[in-house]
Amino acid sequence: MAIKILGIETSCDETSAAIVTSDKQILSHQIYSQLTEHQKYGGVVPELAARSHLHHLPLIIERTFNEANLTLKDMDAIAVTAGPGLIGGVMVGVMMTKAMSVASGIPVIAVNHLEAHVLAVRLNHKVDFPFLTLLISGGHGQFLLCKRLGDYQILGHAIDDAAGEAFDKVAKMIGLGYPGGPLIEKAALLGDPKRFSFPRPLAGRKDCNLSFAGLKTAVRQAVEKLGSLSSQDKADIAASFQKAVVDCLVDRTHQAISMSQDSRIKNFIVSGGVAANTMIRQALQGAVHQHGLQLLAPPPSLCTDNGAMIAWTGVERFHLGHFATMDFPAKPRWPLDQL
Ligand code: KG4
Ligand code: ZN
Repeated sequence: MAIKILGIETSCDETSAAIVTSDKQILSHQIYSQLTEHQKYGGVVPELAARSHLHHLPLIIERTFNEANLTLKDMDAIAVTAGPGLIGGVMVGVMMTKAMSVASGIPVIAVNHLEAHVLAVRLNHKVDFPFLTLLISGGHGQFLLCKRLGDYQILGHAIDDAAGEAFDKVAKMIGLGYPGGPLIEKAALLGDPKRFSFPRPLAGRKDCNLSFAGLKTAVRQAVEKLGSLSSQDKADIAASFQKAVVDCLVDRTHQAISMSQDSRIKNFIVSGGVAANTMIRQALQGAVHQHGLQLLAPPPSLCTDNGAMIAWTGVERFHLGHFATMDFPAKPRWPLDQL
């Protein structure tokens, strides 16, 4: 019989819970986005995020059970993001989970948020190990050789700003608001990607690290030069910036694939919040095809932070018997090669 896992996510600015089964059914899924609470600050305020999780999480969990018409005692385990992330928020999810576990005797699985982004794709697609992953989120950027469950080799990483961070900062610079990714993507639809010739950091370099700080600075200089921005200026900056990010990711992807020649690898995965971007998905599809690989990605709604990917990672780890003891910590940092 299929097992059922409750997943809890509180590591950034989404308060989310989901119930997922071992036969890949999402029985219920609730996401409360704190967007409007952080919008006026132009980014996530960690203290506010933690307080908001504390306020919303019990309600989100209750709704998740109601939506599935199930209760806590129907769960086989509770999976919770134990890091990496904003520590106040992670602690709220972890403490809530420990309390539920103590009260019910249901075991806990401590999930690495980055691993959940990687494994989310296996909820919708059949993806066998080994495979390659480009993980691009608000706080992380890395190419991973995913050898087996829990065994991930970092081939390259963000040496300065993460891609999502660059989207967020550029959006703020041109007055689009927060979060930057979807707003830049929308503005870029009406813009000319050739108007500004922004740099492509690290292009051609024989490694697969990622860098977006120089690109962000170039955008800042262009913005300062223009003075006041018309809506066409904003659209052109958004389009030119997005095109530069796409070109960087494509260049780095070619490098990552050539660095990891293994005839067993059939799939290249892109995941994390930035992977919700249509242009990035399309460009990467073309790039990985040239190497005979198939590009797969979670649906956009499961690229950004969500409880279903945490519950699904719980399912994968349940089968290995990876249960946490009650003294497990909340971790602000938790690299994927140290699971
Ligand atoms: O994975 P995620 O939800 O949270 C982290 O774990 O960081 O990623 C959030 C990041 C934000 O920086 C947001 O601007 C970016 O993902 N993002 C996008 C898009 N949707 C979200 N970036 C580009 N295009 C998008 N459509
Ligand atoms: Zn995330």
